[in-house]
Amino acid sequence: MPGTRQPLDKLLLFGATGDLSQRMLLPSLYGLDEDGLLPDDMTITGTARTVFEDDAFRKFAREALEKYLPEERKDKAKITAFLKRLNYQALDATKADHFKDLSDELGDTSKGLAIFLSTAPSLFEPTIKGLDGAGLAHGNVRIGLEKPLGSDLASSREINDAVARVFPEDRIFRIDHYLGKETVQNILALRFGNSFFEPVWNAQGIDNVQITIAETVGLEDRAGYYDGAGALRDMVTNHILQLVALVAMEPPARYDKDSIRDEKAKVFRSLHIMTPEEVPHNTVTGQYGPGAVGGEIVKGYLDELGKPSTTETFVAIKTRIDNWRWQGVPFYLRTGKRMAVRRSEIAIQFKPVPHSMFAGRGGLLQPNKLIIRLQPEEYIQMLVMAKEPGLDRDGIHLREVPLNLSLDAEFAGSRRRIAYERLLLDLIEGDQTLFVRRDEVEAQWTWTDAIRAGWVANDMKPKSYASGSWGPSTSIALTERDGVTWQDD
Ligand code: BG6
Repeated sequence: MPGTRQPLDKLLLFGATGDLSQRMLLPSLYGLDEDGLLPDDMTITGTARTVFEDDAFRKFAREALEKYLPEERKDKAKITAFLKRLNYQALDATKADHFKDLSDELGDTSKGLAIFLSTAPSLFEPTIKGLDGAGLAHGNVRIGLEKPLGSDLASSREINDAVARVFPEDRIFRIDHYLGKETVQNILALRFGNSFFEPVWNAQGIDNVQITIAETVGLEDRAGYYDGAGALRDMVTNHILQLVALVAMEPPARYDKDSIRDEKAKVFRSLHIMTPEEVPHNTVTGQYGPGAVGGEIVKGYLDELGKPSTTETFVAIKTRIDNWRWQGVPFYLRTGKRMAVRRSEIAIQFKPVPHSMFAGRGGLLQPNKLIIRLQPEEYIQMLVMAKEPGLDRDGIHLREVPLNLSLDAEFAGSRRRIAYERLLLDLIEGDQTLFVRRDEVEAQWTWTDAIRAGWVANDMKPKSYASGSWGPSTSIALTERDGVTWQDD
């Protein structure tokens, strides 16, 4: 609630010269400033290893805004005013004395400091220690943590322990940028702001749930990180599981950090942990080969990488949630790079009608489907059966037609925010609702680690798939053997 928010007047951005900062953080902060949402006297201090004077950093930021802001949002006067908030201090996180210089640059932080930390996993511990040593972890400091926060349960615990030695959980803001997306939050509005879904939102009403995050991009200069992570850890452990939780959770009593995160955590703890024997039947991995995406010829993963690798760039998983509500309902999850189209989508397939009165008159029924398209378009679509117009002399013709709610069209006047705009503002104002709690993360890793252990135990290697396709053909078999077809239209 706005009344309980406590804005801070200083923001410290680690990785300020990096890709995320240029593409997302600086444009997001500008977006907030442009709309008068940042506290008037708030300063933004950038830090990274690169040695920059304040002016050089401002120039760097101006170039990032020029490059990544849409044309209609570039307002010269507002950009200049925004850049005045910026300053910079170079820092090598392995050098304790550099934190003292950082603290001097920040000045008095007693009125509050929000830190956005994205760093290599190996630098987490020294960075946290450095901040603490320089007095930058006091009771009025909040810390936002960007992934990767470890690569398995053990390493994530190490990082979380290192942070917890200095910051209590209520000042730690773990970022999953999917939670900042408007349509993702719309899942909450759809489920808990309407009465008609809830009675059928369970194993009695729902046949299966599919979640797809398909990307057309490849490695994107991130070989160092991505090849060590792979699709499961890069996308499923965090973003896709968060979507699973929002679809599957029990109704929270209130819209607040405890109520919502308690319910999500319960879903994560109810995820079926696969045994090594179950893994080959319930997961498919792939790696993109050469092909064509959007009419352009592209190289395969190994060519892009320039060395051999068994990292998966595609994964499809059949999982289940072992609780009362979801007993027997498969959740099919998949994500991949260099796929046919860019699309993030949740498809809920309802159970068929118990008896078709149209069968004797030739009418065929499809079970209802609810499609929640997160991107690139934002819409919610309910596929329902309708009768085709006509006198039906040769039988009744029924057809699936969409009931459409286009969020783009319905809210055409309002600007679509970058996910980081909301998350940075929530960090500055101290609202943890859309940030991930430690127990959520640990339950996510427990599920993921079991799958990876199964891959090792069964010596599973990713199957090659053509760039521009929907992944290896075995991923089709994963659903088809249950009589289910991936929602690919
Ligand atoms: C990031 C992953 O978390 O999410 C990237 O590291 C991926 O590999 C990105 O491309 C996708 O985000 P979005 O918002 O474009 O769907």
